Amino acid sequence: MAEGWRVPRFGDLERTALPAGAPVGPGAVRLRMRAWSLNYRDLLLLRGAYDPRLPLPYVPLSDGVGEVIEAGAASGFRPGERAVATFAPGWIDGAPDADVVRTARGARTPGLAAAEVVLDARELVRVPDGLSDAEAATLPCAGVTAWTALFRHGGVRPGSGVVVMGTGGVSLFALQLARAAGARVLATTTSPGKAELLRELGAAEVLDAAPGWGKAARAFGVDLVVDVGGAGTIRESVEACRVGGTIALVGNLAAGPGLDPVPAFMKQLRLQGVFTGARRDLEDLIRGLGAIRPVIGATVPFDALPEAFAALEARAHGGRPLVGKVAVAA
Ligand SMILES: NC(=O)c1ccc[n+]([C@@H]2O[C@H](COP(=O)([O-])OP(=O)(O)OC[C@H]3O[C@@H](n4cnc5c(N)ncnc54)[C@H](OP(=O)(O)O)[C@@H]3O)[C@@H](O)[C@H]2O)c1
Repeated sequence: MAEGWRVPRFGDLERTALPAGAPVGPGAVRLRMRAWSLNYRDLLLLRGAYDPRLPLPYVPLSDGVGEVIEAGAASGFRPGERAVATFAPGWIDGAPDADVVRTARGARTPGLAAAEVVLDARELVRVPDGLSDAEAATLPCAGVTAWTALFRHGGVRPGSGVVVMGTGGVSLFALQLARAAGARVLATTTSPGKAELLRELGAAEVLDAAPGWGKAARAFGVDLVVDVGGAGTIRESVEACRVGGTIALVGNLAAGPGLDPVPAFMKQLRLQGVFTGARRDLEDLIRGLGAIRPVIGATVPFDALPEAFAALEARAHGGRPLVGKVAVAA
């Protein structure tokens, strides 16, 4: 058995002993987990808001990094190497199918909140030396989503104008990756105190996420909006975009009236839903990171996992506003 966490009923995290995983077959590896990161999805799942019919108990956390402690002969890994798990186990490349969406980790597929796990090597990508355990653990969901929104779907190139929203995981990755690709970035924030940080990370312009920001953003020349707000921000995103621009529909953080289709079709916008990405996108992201270091706003010990969820929910930790990802360390 391995120490871990499970959710016996929505809203409750329980420390427990979990099965240490199947024997390690030729194509599998056993990982001793070293770090995890939390996503907004993990919080919605815990509340019962993401998948109300999710069978209980379930093992939470989709994103994690471990050290290989046992490697199958055909796994391609060696003991001592570090590996990061992909978000949706069977999704290797290309577009997702319905199974991919249903089998994302940390829900109907068991999550990684265990001291040890056994995984098929095809669900793992080697972690390069330049990344810490916690940094690598931020990549499979938030990092990959920003990557696919910008480059697989958004067509971002040097000089493109990109809008990102706030200082959460996906948005800060989108900001950093867009800048590294030579794009111009305008960021919005609901917390004016975080504007300076957004500028330091390379935002050319920062706007308060107050009604009317979309119109104010027009002069920037916006080719792509990475929209994490959903119903509460989509009208501003439509307003912000140039004619023929793209809105990457990523999140639903903000309540609101939703889309008015008229200005969207008058501007001939492309509304592109984004669901994380495949193993191939995680590999591309890792290759494309260059000097980028993921922004980690809080690190919580594995033994105190409920504290990590509380930090994500409150957007604050240790009396300070949270910026970027919540990481968990073994
Ligand atoms: N489609 C996918 O594959 C996918 C993948 C990952 C995440 N998501 C979704 O994307 C969204 C963001 O995820 P995340 O992990 O980056 O979240 P997060 O780390 O919790 O970030 C939330 C940040 O967004 C900003 N924000 C909060 N409420 C807002 C509002 N009403 N309007 C505008 N901005 C607001 C805040 O920044 P400021 O304080 O600076 O305003 C906040 O820090 C979530 O809805 C998540 O479920 C989707």
